[in-house]
Amino acid sequence: MKIAIGCDHAGYQYKEIVKKHLEEKGFQVIDKGTYSEERVDYPIYGEAVANAVASGEADKGIVICGTGIGISISANKVKGIRAALCTNEYMARMARKHNDANVLAFGARVLGIDVALGIVDVFFSTDFEGGRHERRVKLIKEIEEKNFCK
Ligand code: RB5
Repeated sequence: MKIAIGCDHAGYQYKEIVKKHLEEKGFQVIDKGTYSEERVDYPIYGEAVANAVASGEADKGIVICGTGIGISISANKVKGIRAALCTNEYMARMARKHNDANVLAFGARVLGIDVALGIVDVFFSTDFEGGRHERRVKLIKEIEEKNFCK
């Protein structure tokens, strides 16, 4: 599986740790930046990861900022993206099982790194359940069709 990862300055240290963690587990990681702790604007990196997933360059994505809020909002503006901001493993499991989330978001200033890595492991080892949830995800896609300009 190919995973695109991106962050702002607040998420940089966690991105580096998560990237190494995933590579050690055999995932291919596509790093969309940022590449230092110099202050940057999170929408740029949320969009970059979202575009990688939406285009098929990556299968799934991870976005990290201080809270996870700004970068998840940004990623969710890209058609086809269901970015889920998770603060615990239960949310990560449900984001995959029920929402078929294709981007994981979390906040580096909110979670300890061990909690964050646990969330990552659950997110990437849980499958979409389908069934009644298929209909709901389809309804999300219909909202996109009705409201997107391009
Ligand atoms: C950066 O200071 C901070 O605003 C950003 O990382 C994020 O928390 C925004 O939602």
